[in-house]
Amino acid sequence: MKIVTIVGARPQFIKAAAVSRLLRSAAREVLVHTGQHYDVNMSEVFFRELGIPAPDYLLGVGSASHGEQTGEMLKQIESVLFREKPGWVLVYGDTNSTLAGALAAAKLHVPVAHVEAGLRSFNRRMPEEVNRVLTDHVSTLLFAPTETAVRNLRREGISAGVWQVGDVMYDAVLQHLDHAREHSQILKRHQLCPKEYVLATLHRAENTDDIQRLHSIMSALAEIGREIPVVLPLHPRTRHLIGGLPALTTAPLRMIEPVSYFDMLRLESSARCIVTDSGGVQKEAFFLRVPCVTTRDESEWLETIDSGWNTLVGADRMKIVKAARQAAPGRSGEWPYGKGDSGKQIVNILAFGRPRPTVEPHRAESPSAERLRTTEERANVNAYSLPHAVFPA
Ligand code: UD1
Ligand code: UDP
Repeated sequence: MKIVTIVGARPQFIKAAAVSRLLRSAAREVLVHTGQHYDVNMSEVFFRELGIPAPDYLLGVGSASHGEQTGEMLKQIESVLFREKPGWVLVYGDTNSTLAGALAAAKLHVPVAHVEAGLRSFNRRMPEEVNRVLTDHVSTLLFAPTETAVRNLRREGISAGVWQVGDVMYDAVLQHLDHAREHSQILKRHQLCPKEYVLATLHRAENTDDIQRLHSIMSALAEIGREIPVVLPLHPRTRHLIGGLPALTTAPLRMIEPVSYFDMLRLESSARCIVTDSGGVQKEAFFLRVPCVTTRDESEWLETIDSGWNTLVGADRMKIVKAARQAAPGRSGEWPYGKGDSGKQIVNILAFGRPRPTVEPHRAESPSAERLRTTEERANVNAYSLPHAVFPA
C-alpha cells in the first residue's frame, strides 16, 4: 500500500517522525514537505535529529497569506497525488499544510487519515480551528488523541472511522527524552541551572499580530525576567514582529534562536515553569510534569488544565506574572494521553485495516465501536480499504 504523508511545519516533523519509522515497515510512504517552514532551525534540524528520511517532494511553498499559501500547496499536492496515486493521504495537526493535504486528497477521492483529529478551541477566528474542522470533516480515518477529542467529533456528527489512539507527541517524548537529557548541551551553553529558569515560547497569530497582546505578554516576560532568567527561543514570526519594536528587543530576556527538538526537551524538562502559547509545548509540559502558564484565552488541551498542571491566563500582564510566580505541580495520577504507543496503533489501523493482536484490547477498541452497529455505519468504516480515487487514466 502506498501512503502519501504531508508535512510542512515544525510540530508536524516531530509528530510524523513518531509514526513514519513504523509506517515504513508496513507500507510504502511517500513524504511530501510543503516548505511552509524552511529555515534550517525550523525544518532541516528536525529531519537530521529525528532521522526522518529526506522528503520525496519538497514543494518550497514558503511564507505567504493564508489563501496564497494554502492555494499553492493545494495545486502542488494535487500534482503529486496524480503522479503517485496513493491509497491514502496522511496529515497531521492543524496547519495550512494539513488543510491543503486533506483537501487535495478529498477532491480526488483519496481517503484521508488525520492524526490529532477532534481538537477544538471553539474559536473560529483561529486559522488552526478552521483547518482542523475542515480536515476532520473530509477525513475517513480520524486518530483522536483523547476522549475529549472523540466527544468533540461526535458532537459534530462524526463517529465512523474515529479511533482514540493517544497522543503521538507523547510517543516522541518517551523515545527521545533520555537521549536529550544525556546529550543536549543547551543548559551549559546558556549557563542555566535546572529549576532556576523559566522557559517561554510565543508565536500564536492571535498574540503576535495583535500589538497590545504582544506588548502585554512581552512585558510580563520581562517582569518575570527581573526575578529569574527567562529563556525565549524566538519563533521567526515573533522575531520579525518584535524586530521593529526596540522596547521589546531590549527587555531582560534571553532571546535565542529556535532550538532543536532535543534541546527543547532538555530546556522543558529542567524548567521551573513554562510560559507558552504553543499547543505542543503545553502538552510536553504536562508529559514532563512541569507547571505551565498558557498565554491564550482558550486551550484545546483541557486535560492539562483540569489536572492543575496548566493555567490559562490570556494576555493579561499581571495574570501572567502572578501565575508564573505561583506555578506549582498539579495532580498526579491522571493520564489522558495514552501509553506512548499511538504511532503503533495508527500504523496497525492504517496499514492493516484494523488493530493487530499486539495492541492491547482496550486500546484497540474504538470508543465509537458501539455506535458502529448499523450496516450502513460498518460500510462507511470499511470503505477506507476500498480506494476509489478519481485519477485520470
Ligand atoms: C504555523 C501554523 C501554526 C503552528 C506553527 C508551528 C498555520 C496557519 N499556522 O504558524 O498552527 O502552531 O506553524 O510553529 O499553518 N517564517 C520564517 N521562517 C520559517 C517559517 C516561517 O521566517 O521557516 C516566518 C515568516 O515571516 C512567516 C511567519 O514566520 O510569514 C509565519 O509562518 P507561517 O508558517 O505562516 O505560520 P506560523 O506562525 O509558523
Ligand atoms: N519546539 C522545538 N524548538 C523550539 C520550539 C518548539 O523543537 O524552539 C518543539 C516543541 O518541543 C514541540 C513543537 O516544537 O514539540 C511545538 O511546535 P510549535 O510550538 O511551533 O507549534 P504548535 O504545537 O503550537 O502548533
